Amino acid sequence: MKSVGTYPSTRLRRNRKRDWTRRLVQENTLSTSDLIWPIFIRDGKNIKEPIKTMPGIYRYSLDKIEKLVEKAIEQKIPMIALFPNTPFYKKDNRGSEALNRNNLICKALRLIKKNYNEIGIMCDVALDPYTKHGHDGIINKSYVDNDATIKILVKQSLLQAEMGCDVIAPSDMMDGRIGEIRKALDKKDFKLVQILSYAVKYASNFYGPFRDAVGSNKLLKSNKKNYQMDYKNSKEALREVALDIKEGADFVMVKPGMPYLDIIKLIKDSFKIPVFAYQVSGEYSLIRKGIDDKIIDENAIVESLMSFKRAGASAIVTYFADEIAKKLR
Ligand code: PBG
Repeated sequence: MKSVGTYPSTRLRRNRKRDWTRRLVQENTLSTSDLIWPIFIRDGKNIKEPIKTMPGIYRYSLDKIEKLVEKAIEQKIPMIALFPNTPFYKKDNRGSEALNRNNLICKALRLIKKNYNEIGIMCDVALDPYTKHGHDGIINKSYVDNDATIKILVKQSLLQAEMGCDVIAPSDMMDGRIGEIRKALDKKDFKLVQILSYAVKYASNFYGPFRDAVGSNKLLKSNKKNYQMDYKNSKEALREVALDIKEGADFVMVKPGMPYLDIIKLIKDSFKIPVFAYQVSGEYSLIRKGIDDKIIDENAIVESLMSFKRAGASAIVTYFADEIAKKLR
């Protein structure tokens, strides 16, 4: 690097000496426009149910959803992500409930889209909230069957689009599903429905609390390593992203977040597509517990979110969205 200078004529601390000069040289910013707020929904009436492994996060019955959407709009959060906690009796081995026009997600989409158009809604495409075995696809001879699963995911995507979903977010890690979903959407004239591909999703130990939230944790008897990525790999992420761009993804997601900042940067340096980061449930709960137990200061939340911006993320899915939006405004 040229023009680095030498001490004592160069002193980097000069630019840090007061708040005003620190503000002048700041390289990254965080605003409410960077946030995507995940919301867990459940059946029943007038319910706000705590999730034990995610302090401060709740499952809401549908009658509570409009209030939350209004809050998000008021705080200028551009998009919410809906996740269903499906009652066990509705789960089966094929995740049939995913295709029920009256499942929780469809009902929520209809309810929200009836009155609110100024906020984006993103929905996961994957079968894990609906299967008895907790896997993202259907199982054939103890292996998650790629092509058979895609057929269902295409139907799930079309159904969500029909109900008004703005951003279809396949989180299943099947090969080739982005292309098939794009083709099907275009054919049915959903040309402007966007696809956010969870292109780079690692088989991670940080998803535990989410699986509690959607009720798949106890059901899942094995891991997801034969479809989600191995955390020892990074270059493989470039192949995943390259394929998804070719297949028609509008944005790509890296997941989890903080342990994978190198991956966000790598993708950003290699492609021109918007990259989103998912600060997942385990990351949320660790930071939350650390703050609640007075181990770390609450400013750690913004610090953690800024790290995604530094790495090059355009937006961040975070369970802190609501709380931080309030502070940022
Ligand atoms: C399901 C899905 C998962 C998450 C989002 N969608 C879990 C998994 O793959 O097991 C995790 C999100 C989080 O931990 O916050 N396909």
